[in-house]
Amino acid sequence: MKTLMIKTHEAWLEMLMAGFMSKTQNKQVLFDFSDILFRHFTWLENELIEMGESYSYDRDTIPIKVEKLSNLLQDIVLRLNEIDLQLLSSPDKALAERIASDIYYMKEVISKMKDEVVTAFNMARTFPGISLTQEATDALTLFLFEETYKEYELIMIYNYLKAHSSDAYMNRIFQILIDESFFHLKSFGDMGAKMGILAVPRIVMKELYQVEDVVQFLKDGIDEELAAKEECKKLSEAVSKDSSELAKFFDFINHQENYHISLMKDALKHYTGGVNE
Ligand SMILES: [Fe+2]
Ligand SMILES: [Fe+2]
Repeated sequence: MKTLMIKTHEAWLEMLMAGFMSKTQNKQVLFDFSDILFRHFTWLENELIEMGESYSYDRDTIPIKVEKLSNLLQDIVLRLNEIDLQLLSSPDKALAERIASDIYYMKEVISKMKDEVVTAFNMARTFPGISLTQEATDALTLFLFEETYKEYELIMIYNYLKAHSSDAYMNRIFQILIDESFFHLKSFGDMGAKMGILAVPRIVMKELYQVEDVVQFLKDGIDEELAAKEECKKLSEAVSKDSSELAKFFDFINHQENYHISLMKDALKHYTGGVNE
């Protein structure tokens, strides 16, 4: 079961990376499939919790540097085959059947996808249609590298907290934050691919999601969101001379963080019984 969950985690990320690499109609299909694999992952996690098994989000590193999309898709098919074999270990037969049927269809579709040349690793560090100064390019490179990881980390943390909570009030907030982090992850991953600097986010340390003190976690989280806002503001300023389009995008992301902060404050209040202002 644990192997099954880990392999599903890896397949989800690899499918997402394939989505970032694609520049054709394949893209949306790959994103949808990666969302489906993420849901499989959370259901398998739930099964492990119900079985009372301890687990973590550890996984292997995922090599994704390919020249053609088909190379990565072939690898994903191999992973899906392995998941299919591992499904025997799942006691929930309805879930195993659902996953098997999804996998069967996904394999069909991706093995027939039109091939694409991959430019997501060419290190060109240029944006199509936008010419950025060296300074803005460096700032954007650093931002994308850091924030892509950060958003993945947040997805894993909120997902873990949600998986272990039966508090409907908190779970609504956790789910919003997961969805929002997915949007940010997808946006930044796409930009990274366009700039030729795509990379799989590094593995998240257990200590980060196996949170002992949720109140402290939320307090720190609010500070981190404030820091993220600052980063967006700086970046928006750095690129504003070269591209008002990019500047507006980072202002938009910056403003979204306000809502995250407000939700986290609500969560904090809920946790501390309303005594926190
Ligand atoms: Fe964010
Ligand atoms: Fe945020």
